[in-house]
Amino acid sequence: MTEELHDVRLDVNGTAYDVRVPARRLLSDALRHDLGLTGTHVGCEHGVCGSCTVLLDGAPVRACLVLAVSVSGQRVTTVEGLTRPDGSLGPVQQAFAECHGLQCGFCTPGFLTTITAGLRDNPAPTHDEAREMVAGNLCRCTGYQNIVRAVERAAELAATEGRP
Ligand code: FES
Ligand code: FES
Repeated sequence: MTEELHDVRLDVNGTAYDVRVPARRLLSDALRHDLGLTGTHVGCEHGVCGSCTVLLDGAPVRACLVLAVSVSGQRVTTVEGLTRPDGSLGPVQQAFAECHGLQCGFCTPGFLTTITAGLRDNPAPTHDEAREMVAGNLCRCTGYQNIVRAVERAAELAATEGRP
C-alpha cells in the first residue's frame, strides 16, 4: 500500500519550500532530508537532547516532536538562519566561537537556536539565568562552562550590535 502524501509549504529562514511528505514526516527529517538543511541535528528523536531545536514563529521547539504538515503558515528558523544577511556570524554564533562553547559541535545548533530565543526574552541574563537558559539542552563534550560564558558574551554582543 502506498502512503498518502501531503503538499505542504514550509517557510524556513525566509524562503518558501513546497514539499510533498507523508503525514508522519517529522519536521527535523523534512528540514534535513527534504530541504537539505542539515544544520538541524537529530540526536535522541525523543525531545530530550535539544539538538534538533528550531524556532517556530520565534519560539524554540524540538523539531523531532513536530510534524512537518503541522507547521504550514508558521515561520521556521533553523541554525542556518542565524547568520546575518551578509553571511557573517550572528552574536550567539560569534560568542560560541570566542568562548570555545563547542567541541564536537553536535549539540551546537540546538544551543544556538535556544539561546537566540532566550536572549530575545531576557537580553541581560544573570549567571544563573544564563545557566537556566541552556538547562534543557544536552552536551556530551563541553561541561557547559563555556556554553554559559557564551550566553553571557552573546548578551554583550547583542547589546552593542543589535538583537540576537
Ligand atoms: S533529537 Fe529532538 S530533542 Fe533530541
Ligand atoms: S560539543 Fe559535543 S555534544 Fe556538545
